Amino acid sequence: MSVAPLRTVDTQIVPDAGAGTESGTAGTAISVDGVRKIYDTGRERTEAVSGVSFDVKRGEFVAILGPSGCGKSTLLMMCGGLESITSGRIDIEGVAMTQPRPSIGVMFQDASLLPWKTVLENILFPIKILKRPMAEYTERARSLIDMVGLHGFEDKKPHQLSGGMRQRVAICRALVYDPDILLMDEPFSALDAITRDEMGEALLDIWEQYTKTALFVTHSIREAVLLADRVLVMTRRPATIVEDIRIPFGRPRPRDVSGSPEFNEICVYLRSLIESGHGAAQGRRSGDGPVLQPGRRGA
Ligand SMILES: Nc1ncnc2c1ncn2[C@@H]1O[C@H](COP(=O)(O)OP(=O)(O)OP(=O)(O)O)[C@@H](O)[C@H]1O
Ligand SMILES: [Mg+2]
Repeated sequence: MSVAPLRTVDTQIVPDAGAGTESGTAGTAISVDGVRKIYDTGRERTEAVSGVSFDVKRGEFVAILGPSGCGKSTLLMMCGGLESITSGRIDIEGVAMTQPRPSIGVMFQDASLLPWKTVLENILFPIKILKRPMAEYTERARSLIDMVGLHGFEDKKPHQLSGGMRQRVAICRALVYDPDILLMDEPFSALDAITRDEMGEALLDIWEQYTKTALFVTHSIREAVLLADRVLVMTRRPATIVEDIRIPFGRPRPRDVSGSPEFNEICVYLRSLIESGHGAAQGRRSGDGPVLQPGRRGA
């Protein structure tokens, strides 16, 4: 089923700070250039991210893989304006990222729903915060609810839902106000394997009719290969990008692709990179990564 389109032009309601400039590179939604992050707690300095550069084109779905603690969440938070950048630059739609913007939707591992609000109220919460027209977005929220299979649960509270259902609500909440860019930090990692697969399929369904630019952090190699157009691999901390591969499966993505030898070969290759903590292309600027040639680069 399709999601109700919005009739209101976003910029009429809440413009992004600094949006509307002409400085953006055509076709580039996210540009990360030489970004470094040092956490300084006063007692300790931790270099979490070191000289990371990559671009994400408009409408592209890019997954980020890397060992635990390597700085993936830090990178995503900097892209969302939720964490300061020590040096380097992140531009979103050509505008330097310094603070959160309504054109960027964020989704974390924990659904973080408001326990006293219903499913529908939780989904519409950003609309309330952004002071957008409630009636119009309610129609859209209901379409999204149907799409993720939550029809009939609109008036339930979060404690009456399963973990997978709560994550579905979080997806709807991230999409309801029509952000151009979605940043997702391991959104399905708290779920069991079967529910996780279902959520991946739900996200694919949404993607096919509702293309957005996405940066998606995951620990699951298979999830990354199934969902993404490109996969970036980060090293151990301080993290740099060591590989940027284009996933050679088109859209709409065949649901049975994960059973193919090519899919498995890509997964084996990515696993070997992550386990070794090294890659084939140390420190290069990413953004137009090579298509993996199975058999040439396999583990
Ligand atoms: N607010 C903070 N203050 C100080 N150090 C931090 C802070 N947040 C993260 N770090 C450190 O930065 C490094 C990277 O953390 P980050 O959460 O970005 O890693 P990650 O790749 O997302 O890990 P995981 O896969 O386990 O989620 C870690 O060493 C962590 O301890
Ligand atoms: Mg993390």
